[in-house]
Amino acid sequence: MILKWTEDLSVDHEQLDKEHQSLFEMLSDFYEGIQNGSSKEKLASLIKGLLDYAQIHFTNEEEYMQSVNFPELDDHKKEHEAFMQKANEFYEKYTSGRLILSLEVTNFIKEWITHHIKNEDKKYAVFARK
Ligand SMILES: [Fe+2]
Ligand SMILES: [Fe+2]
Repeated sequence: MILKWTEDLSVDHEQLDKEHQSLFEMLSDFYEGIQNGSSKEKLASLIKGLLDYAQIHFTNEEEYMQSVNFPELDDHKKEHEAFMQKANEFYEKYTSGRLILSLEVTNFIKEWITHHIKNEDKKYAVFARK
């Protein structure tokens, strides 16, 4: 497990916290796949699963922000879009044989997710608490 969800990452929303935990687990599985020398197909399916799940999570989160009238929804959506774009680029490069999945990709996802939860997702949590 390269990434562990801890209570300080909570956004005060049970379902969304669970989704963050699932994303961490999927990233850990992917990382372990790299470490264990899993096949290209296996790694591709792990990363695809993670990206599909991230998209579902972002949609759920955006719906929640909308429901509480979070004022910075548009900016937040842009962050989600930027991530999906970059992550999809990695995926496409990988499946077309132009990229070897490595620690670099794992680190990008890991850094982005933790930074995003701490700095962006926390904002709607603080807002909803008011
Ligand atoms: Fe978010
Ligand atoms: Fe999130």
